[in-house]
Amino acid sequence: MGRPILRVEQNGQEVSSVVQTLRELFTQYGSDKASLGYGEVYETYFAPMVTDKVTLLELGVYSGASLRAWKDYFPYGTIAGLDSDTFPEVENVVVHRGRQNDKELLESLANEYKGFDIVVDDCSHQWEDQQASWEALWKHIRPGGYYVIEDLGTSLDPTPDRWHRDPAAIDTLEYLSHIMRQVIGDHMLVGSMEFMHFYPNICLMKKRIR
Ligand SMILES: C[S@@+](CC[C@H](N)C(=O)[O-])C[C@H]1O[C@@H](n2cnc3c(N)ncnc32)[C@H](O)[C@@H]1O
Repeated sequence: MGRPILRVEQNGQEVSSVVQTLRELFTQYGSDKASLGYGEVYETYFAPMVTDKVTLLELGVYSGASLRAWKDYFPYGTIAGLDSDTFPEVENVVVHRGRQNDKELLESLANEYKGFDIVVDDCSHQWEDQQASWEALWKHIRPGGYYVIEDLGTSLDPTPDRWHRDPAAIDTLEYLSHIMRQVIGDHMLVGSMEFMHFYPNICLMKKRIR
């Protein structure tokens, strides 16, 4: 995948400029997504969307680094964040206060934004939270859009107690394997999934266009 090109009209003329890669932007703003190698993964899917008016929600804001990167990468996009803790102001980005397992809140955000083209879960990384957010938001991913769960390594932690509250909880990799069986059997109960792609620490799911 080459560098994404942004084409814009200036004084009636089309001008092109090369967009910074996501890795560069994550590095510039100080998100650990750069060192974790997520930028290259996302570039593969998101580069064709750089000139689109994408609506992106990231669960987990912290310093706002990744939100700044998303805003630069999708200059025509609407970028929103959600965090339960205090967070800084991020220019041209709306950040909502709340918990990622609050399904009512997620539902109301999905209605407010009329669905999302991209949702990135970089929040508590706890199993029940990852699953609750997916259950609330997958149905609100627009056709052709993506849902990403980051830091899935918490499912493989040999001392996993801090990653779940309910002793009977299943880890998110096991949860995703149930969804995978539905995708392969083509009877996805929860809406149409075109694919699930796994990378180190990440699962990226695409909504079918039709
Ligand atoms: C890994 S940081 C986000 C980093 C950011 N996405 C970036 O790349 O720059 C995780 C954030 O999730 C927030 N968080 C943790 N548990 C949460 C929960 N249950 N609901 C909402 N936010 C939560 C924390 O306050 C923290 O700011």
